Amino acid sequence: MSDLKNPLFLQACRREPVNRTPVWMMRQAGRYLPQYRAIRAKNDFLTMCKTPELASEVSIQPVDILGVDACIIFSDILVVPEAMGLKLVVEEGKGGPRFTNPIRSRTDIEKLAIPDPARELKFVLDAIRMTRKALDGRVPLIGFSGSPWTLAAYMIEGGGSRTFRTIKEMLYVNPRDVHFLLEKLAEATGAYLKAIIEAGAQAVQIFDSWGGILPPHEFREFSLRSIRHVLSLLPTRSVPVIVFCRECGHSLEDIAESGADVVGIDWATDLGVARRRVGSKAALQGNLDPAVLYAPPKTIREHVVRILEQFGPHPGHIFNLGHGIHPDTPVDNAKAFIDAVKEESSRFHASARSS
Ligand code: CP3
Repeated sequence: MSDLKNPLFLQACRREPVNRTPVWMMRQAGRYLPQYRAIRAKNDFLTMCKTPELASEVSIQPVDILGVDACIIFSDILVVPEAMGLKLVVEEGKGGPRFTNPIRSRTDIEKLAIPDPARELKFVLDAIRMTRKALDGRVPLIGFSGSPWTLAAYMIEGGGSRTFRTIKEMLYVNPRDVHFLLEKLAEATGAYLKAIIEAGAQAVQIFDSWGGILPPHEFREFSLRSIRHVLSLLPTRSVPVIVFCRECGHSLEDIAESGADVVGIDWATDLGVARRRVGSKAALQGNLDPAVLYAPPKTIREHVVRILEQFGPHPGHIFNLGHGIHPDTPVDNAKAFIDAVKEESSRFHASARSS
């Protein structure tokens, strides 16, 4: 941490006291930035993921343009299933990414490889090394992966879904097959995150975007259990691990007890309630509704102040959105959000110290 000019994010992850609350945004490297769209206009999405120079350039854009306190590497959660043998396509204007050969049987699961990150996912590791160098200690670099459950949902459905009927049917009819797939994914994800940390990521985040499609009992049995499996494969206490399970407010205590250093809180949960429930077990990251960024700066600031007050004068808060930033967010409003967190939290922490 010694070479870092701005260690606020890592200090907050470790629940150390800070002079102001650090802030970054999920999906901050993306389409709301004209500078991202300019590069994207000349390259397809997967080419950008697989060209370390391009990935590094767009990762750093929000650091330069918005002054966020952490950089997240530009990539996608779906590069791991691709490296395991699924065919990933991202067609222009046809919704999100898709797998053309989704998992439908135990044989399909048996065929999946556990990739060697240094070979099949070298482009991510190179992008991390290059970005660390270019950042030159300005802010810490975050690496990420999907959770095994979220990856499994994509691999079985073949893409995004409204009902997730295929994976839910498999879960209730052939739970052992789902566990078999989750175990393979946990092994692959554990090796991948370990390699990401060794390449220089100073924190990692696991995105469980689809944990919330499960009832609480199934969430714990299928999603959280496989997240714990991933955490057991990481070098202990080397870098902070953030676990963000979307729409899983029912299980915050269990997520905090899973070994996560930081629990991501989505916008549907009150941050003050979350803090009281999690206590000193983990730091919290969140949780402004990204749609607030459609409102004028004055309104954005009011919501920032409310969230700071909800969390209260305690260590261990990383300000973030409660889900990824929307692609049509005005950049000026994103900047107003970052500035408001910096200014209001400086004031908030100073008055908490003096009282
Ligand atoms: O946070 C960051 O800025 C880093 C980059 C990042 C991307 N995807 C880039 C991306 C991260 C952290 C992700 C994670 C990701 N990818 C998740 C988990 C987070 C979440 O939002 O729930 C998921 C579910 C995916 C899978 C994925 N990739 C989808 C569903 C889509 C299409 C929807 C969309 O937002 O376009 C993508 C494509 C994608 N991943 C884009 C970006 C910038 C848009 C691609 C483009 O430029 O057209």
